Amino acid sequence: MNNTLALIKPDAMQKGFKDKIRKDIMENGFVIVEEKTLNLSIEQAEGFYAIHKDKPFFGELVEFMTSNETHIMKLEKENAVVEWRDLMGATNPAEAESGTIRAKYGTDISMNATHGSDSNENAEIEINFFFKDL
Ligand code: CMP
Repeated sequence: MNNTLALIKPDAMQKGFKDKIRKDIMENGFVIVEEKTLNLSIEQAEGFYAIHKDKPFFGELVEFMTSNETHIMKLEKENAVVEWRDLMGATNPAEAESGTIRAKYGTDISMNATHGSDSNENAEIEINFFFKDL
């Protein structure tokens, strides 16, 4: 079994999609091992997305991620990183395959409803970022 970190981002939380997205996750065979809802601080958003700090969209990303609550989940499934990325669809909802979470619930490349780790190594780092104190 493998783990990945999943976020339901502020846009999807604000639009009331949290329960629908959790249902999609569970119906696709993931176990939600741990979860919590946080309103991210600027420091948390900057730290979580530190890898993007030199990108032109970093300021917009941090502003968006601190604009409302984020639901944070540690997911478990065989091949969890790839499986969760497949279920989310492409980063840009306009390019996401129909039926995927970002196609159904995302707005644009910034407000794209969910986040997922991109490798097993980053999954461990990202899970520890939010759940290490539990
Ligand atoms: P996520 O998978 O959470 O990882 C980094 C995030 O940065 C990404 O989803 C998008 O929400 C955001 N992002 C990536 N590219 C852009 C862009 N060109 N403009 C604005 N936001 C972006």
